[in-house]
Amino acid sequence: MLTLVELYQEISRCHRCELAKHRTRVVPGEGAEDAEVVFIGEAPGWHEDQQGRPFVGAAGKFLDTLLASIDMCREGVYICNVIKCRPPENRDPSPQEIEACQGWLDKQLDLLHPRIVVTLGRYSMARFFPGESISRIHGKEYRRGGVIYYPMYHPAAALHQQKLRQIIEADMLRIPLLLSESETENTCEPEPEPEQLSLF
Ligand code: URA
Repeated sequence: MLTLVELYQEISRCHRCELAKHRTRVVPGEGAEDAEVVFIGEAPGWHEDQQGRPFVGAAGKFLDTLLASIDMCREGVYICNVIKCRPPENRDPSPQEIEACQGWLDKQLDLLHPRIVVTLGRYSMARFFPGESISRIHGKEYRRGGVIYYPMYHPAAALHQQKLRQIIEADMLRIPLLLSESETENTCEPEPEPEQLSLF
């Protein structure tokens, strides 16, 4: 099994799509290796491309504020994007680019196995809920395979629209509750008997 650092090295050599030609730095993601909550944004912007770190521009500052509102900080969670390289002029990522990058996010989630996956914005939501609409499913949790998937609006969208700002702030405040529910659910699952384990 790869470590996160080994995975970052692989991602930094990636040339699976055209975005590799335009990037200054790859932005694989960052945060705690044992993070219980993973936030997945869309794609790096200019600041992220320069620094090789996710959410370090204006949207990132707002994400920090949102994390502080639930007594969390970026060092205690994990933050990454669907796309690891900046699309030129911050255009939307193409379906081909999203598909090319998909394996990296899958590997990250395999390594982290978080309790909660928070999707930020439409592209991240679509990765887990294809065909859904963010206005319909934001702030509602979905449980799959012991993981809670929780779609939220993108912090950048909320920067320009006061109404969305209030919605994203309210959705964020539900995360501690979801976390404690997920702890209870997982502790309540019956441990398999040792004899049963040896059957496999
Ligand atoms: N927006 C994103 O979706 N990701 C970043 O890393 C920065 C801005």
